Amino acid sequence: MNVLVAYASRLGSTRAIAERIAERIQADGIAATARDVETVDDLIPYDAVIVGSAVYAGHWLKEASRFVRSHDARLAARPVWMFSSGPVGKTATAHEPVESEEVAELARIVGARGHRTFAGSLDRATLDGAHLSSVERFVAKRFVAEGDFRDWPAIDAWADGIARALDATTATGKPPTTTVSV
Ligand SMILES: Cc1cc2nc3c(=O)[nH]c(=O)nc-3n(C[C@H](O)[C@H](O)[C@H](O)COP(=O)(O)O)c2cc1C
Repeated sequence: MNVLVAYASRLGSTRAIAERIAERIQADGIAATARDVETVDDLIPYDAVIVGSAVYAGHWLKEASRFVRSHDARLAARPVWMFSSGPVGKTATAHEPVESEEVAELARIVGARGHRTFAGSLDRATLDGAHLSSVERFVAKRFVAEGDFRDWPAIDAWADGIARALDATTATGKPPTTTVSV
């Protein structure tokens, strides 16, 4: 069993979530690697895939949705989970996140077993040199709450649930009857 955690990130916080998920799955005894979606051409080496994207202006980053659409058949043939890293600020953890229609459609295309939204992070010191448009940079400086709102215990628990589900698949050769909560 070899798991790919493919991510799209502008400022690095989603990359860190992806790396944490891969480390956690490895600690659970399953090989896992985190890679930028743009560096992944071939899914054949992977038995299961987790795809995650930062959310900007209400949308997944284009390279993440392109990754899902361009690998749709291979993803549909594997267990897939998805995560979004988005809300920051006081409301980030106060409400149940609403799944966007865009993400719901991507999940449908590949038959994803779950989608989870994790609170994100913004450190304005990382804005210099980041791949942001001038409008995004302005919004980031003026309107987006700064701080690290990532919930590492929740991220770890989600990764552990995926590892358990994959263990069950390996043991029985069939998909698990229970899925990881969305
Ligand atoms: C310009 C800008 C726009 C953003 N728009 C949204 C948004 O629409 N919805 C949301 O939940 N988070 C939004 N965020 C918060 C980011 O998703 C959050 O900071 C995320 O952790 C960034 O991920 P990254 O470091 O991997 O790029 C925005 C952040 C910036 C800087």
